[in-house]
Amino acid sequence: MSEPIISFRDAAKVFPGGRRRPEVRAVDGVTLDIETGEIFGVIGYSGAGKSTLVRLINALERTTSGAVVVGGVDLTGLGESRLREVRAGIGMIFQQFNLLSSRTVAGNVAYPLEVAKWPRGEREARVRELLDFVGIADKADAYPSQLSGGQKQRVGIARALATNPRILLADEATSALDPETTREVLRLLQRVNRELGITVVIITHEMDVVRYCCDRVAVMEHGHVVETGGAYEIFSNPQAPVTRRFVATSLRDRPSDETLARLRERHPGRLVVVGIDEVTGSTRAISQVLRDQGVEPSIVYGGITEVADRPYGSLTFELTGPDDAVAAAIARLREVTGVDDLGTAARPAVAPAVAEPAVVEPAVVEPVETTPGGSPGRPGMPGTSGPQRRPGGGPFGGPTGFVEGDH
Ligand SMILES: Nc1ncnc2c1ncn2[C@@H]1O[C@H](COP(=O)(O)OP(=O)(O)O)[C@@H](O)[C@H]1O
Ligand SMILES: [Mg+2]
Repeated sequence: MSEPIISFRDAAKVFPGGRRRPEVRAVDGVTLDIETGEIFGVIGYSGAGKSTLVRLINALERTTSGAVVVGGVDLTGLGESRLREVRAGIGMIFQQFNLLSSRTVAGNVAYPLEVAKWPRGEREARVRELLDFVGIADKADAYPSQLSGGQKQRVGIARALATNPRILLADEATSALDPETTREVLRLLQRVNRELGITVVIITHEMDVVRYCCDRVAVMEHGHVVETGGAYEIFSNPQAPVTRRFVATSLRDRPSDETLARLRERHPGRLVVVGIDEVTGSTRAISQVLRDQGVEPSIVYGGITEVADRPYGSLTFELTGPDDAVAAAIARLREVTGVDDLGTAARPAVAPAVAEPAVVEPAVVEPVETTPGGSPGRPGMPGTSGPQRRPGGGPFGGPTGFVEGDH
């Protein structure tokens, strides 16, 4: 593999304390590689150290110890003029857009080109090209105050791309936007990545942002990176408690305690949460397993969505039938996918150890492609190939979960 474009090596940033303030280890012992051409997410709650981490990349903050290497250049101890060269290869966008209110859209995008002393003609052509790319060519002469949030962020992106950076840093760039506009801006960032080959680092506190567009993600807590992995792997097999909380808030596919209590009133039978992913993918196959065992399944809750463009989520079934048939069906299901047995209203099972999202609304079930009768490359019954679950692991229960098998 080629050299990572950004490399943190045991990097720390400590803000010294004052008379009544303790020192803050905003970034603490971070070792992390971001590869050329990926969309890399950094997620964490407020105060986790995300902004400080990203500001180390363009040396708006300098490390207290350790090193940050960008494009092969170690930023430690680098002088201002060399730093300016490195910064020229890095664009940045912000939550509050940071546009110049006295300049038009075109004037804002032209600004970094003026600073870089581009000749007027080239500047104008470049501004037109950039506004076309971000889809607001018709707003060239408007002022920021006349734009919606999404349009402002498009201007921010055009301005950040003006001088052809290799890296785009986005610090909570969608946090001031509604969900629909967030998706549009994230789609634009995907185009920046795919069409222009720019490495994108997205800082966010929203797991949905990771779900929509990140290839890989690092989870930060108290200045540390507590977990790193592919977006799909992080969703399907979160390890750190903080990661599990983020995943739960994004998927909302499991009934909360309150919802479960209501479900039990309406559904006296055995409730089981069944993991759905691209391998178990076919909900029809799961229904078939249940019917083969002579139990009647009915879906009472759930949400299947896409993580990194792949299906993911869970469905909660009420299983009715003779006790031994239900038990056999659950055993059979466990060979296929992650299953959390919630028990019956009369004999509830101990709730799985997972932090529930605050939201208790039933999740919207997005349409998912199902493959009747199994998919190519998965001959025979599920369970004879494909991922295996660690014993005892529910869809997101405990530190276990989905693990790739090595069949
Ligand atoms: N310039 C600074 N001086 C002192 N403390 C700071 C400074 N910048 C950030 N911090 C502290 O560092 C910690 C991490 O902040 P930050 O990187 O902004 O986190 P996040 O972006 O994840 O919310 C916080 O406790 C914050 O108060
Ligand atoms: Mg921040």
